[in-house]
Amino acid sequence: MTIESYEIQPLFATPYFKANIASAISAEQVTFIKNLKMIRNRDNLISENLYIFEAPELRSIKEAVQEALDIYANEVMGIDQKLYVTQSWSLRNEPRVGMHSHSHSNSIVSGSLYYCELPRPLSRVIFDKSTAYQRLELNPLREKQNLFNTPINVLTPDTHELIMFPSDLNHQTEANLSDLPRDAIAFNSFIKGKLGNYRDVSELSL
Ligand SMILES: [Fe+2]
Repeated sequence: MTIESYEIQPLFATPYFKANIASAISAEQVTFIKNLKMIRNRDNLISENLYIFEAPELRSIKEAVQEALDIYANEVMGIDQKLYVTQSWSLRNEPRVGMHSHSHSNSIVSGSLYYCELPRPLSRVIFDKSTAYQRLELNPLREKQNLFNTPINVLTPDTHELIMFPSDLNHQTEANLSDLPRDAIAFNSFIKGKLGNYRDVSELSL
């Protein structure tokens, strides 16, 4: 063999943030969210109100999400602009219903909050590396799968977890295999502040 040693380094990576925010959620808030009027989304149900964090009843949850967005902006993105929640809504997957693959437009970071007890078995969230139709299927052998070649990454969020990820990342939720509804909150975000440079005529104030 000619090559005696070699190294392979990751050039880029996709972040997946998670934090437990159980202390910010009260029993009254769980009831408030569960009582929101729900309408049909494609397969699952979505709240009619798509700005639920504007409800004064959910203030402590909104504040906890803001704290998480501040950490994400600072530690993951390393920016001095502020991330803030744009739309926020609740979702319900009835038994045997999941959520089709999608990404979130006009948003930078998206998130989900599993604000109440999740039914068992837990539905997993499947993240897809590709953002477009794949003409060439170059799937790695199962025993050869690694961070570089895996086409998907599967994670299992649990009760009271807040998760966040880049909004352009395709994701879907497995069908709810329990006999109880599976409830969650989701949200989008955007940045506030100044981008670019005045003298470069690239300045943009948001
Ligand atoms: Fe989503």
